[in-house]
Parts: sequence; structure tokens; C-alpha cells
Amino acid sequence: MAIREIVTIPHKTLRRKARKVTTFGGELQSLIDDMVETMRAAPGVGLAAPQVDVPLRVIVVEFNESEDEEAPPKLHVIVNPKITRSSSDQEMGTEGCLSIPGIVGDVERPITVTLKGLNRRGQPLKIKASGWLARIFQHEVDHLDGVLFVDRAEKVWQIEGETTQIAPAD
Ligand code: NI
Repeated sequence: MAIREIVTIPHKTLRRKARKVTTFGGELQSLIDDMVETMRAAPGVGLAAPQVDVPLRVIVVEFNESEDEEAPPKLHVIVNPKITRSSSDQEMGTEGCLSIPGIVGDVERPITVTLKGLNRRGQPLKIKASGWLARIFQHEVDHLDGVLFVDRAEKVWQIEGETTQIAPAD
């Protein structure tokens, strides 16, 4: 495993539409392992492959969904993710992104989403998520289409230094 460099705006890969994964060999496994390590080291709660300059449809998300703050966060690895259902109810939340350091913004998104995709071995999976987890999934899937949270934000602002953490960076 290795920590990869996280590319930041205006890197071109962040604006490309990523390709579907069709082979689940060693190269993909290494990419996923590296993405998990890179996300944890950052630290962040999510990472999409284009953020490490790989234009493939792969996301990793690790976020503590339970009320219990001591509970270990659950790791999600999703290949070719697709949001198949979104609630009509939306809510505003403050997002950040490891590829846009020092900037956060308020983004309105559906509160609940259903995600379909494949696990790292290519087997189908389906996840229903709400709240922050749903928000993180939507943010990461956006990355695969070259969309950044600042494109959707109603308001963006600079944060002072890295100690001011308003929202989990993903
Ligand atoms: Ni991001």
C-alpha cells in the first residue's frame, strides 16, 4: 500500500468523466488499497479515484454512521457506483474537499439516496444511506462525473488554516 498524491484544482483529471471499471485484477486492488490509505492519511471521510489522478469510477468512504462516537467507522469501497434513488427531501450541509483545500461551501442535496454498484471483487452491492453518509456518497459520485461541490454550492467561503474544521473533508 502507498499514499498517493491528492490532486487539487485546477488539475484536469478532476474535470474529466471517469471510465467504468471492467477488470478487477491486481491493478484495481492496489488502487483501492492506496485510496483507503490516502483517505485515512489525509484525513478525509471519502475519496474518488480522479482525486489521485486515476480516471476510473471508484470511490472509498469511511464514516461513522452510528450515534456512538466511539464506534469504528465503516469502510465502503464502491466500484461503478450509481445513485438509483434520491429522496425529494433535501437539506443543506457544509462540505469541503481534499482537492479544494481551504474552501468550504453550503450545498443542498437529497437527504436519502440508494446507491448501486460493485464491491472490489466485482460483486453487486446496494446501499441505502441518509444524512452525512448520503451526502458523502453524492459528493464522491459527483467527482466521477467531473463535478465539484463548488459547482453546486450556494455559498462558498475560505476557512482559516487547517485547524478550523467545519465539516468532514471529503
Ligand atoms: Ni471531494
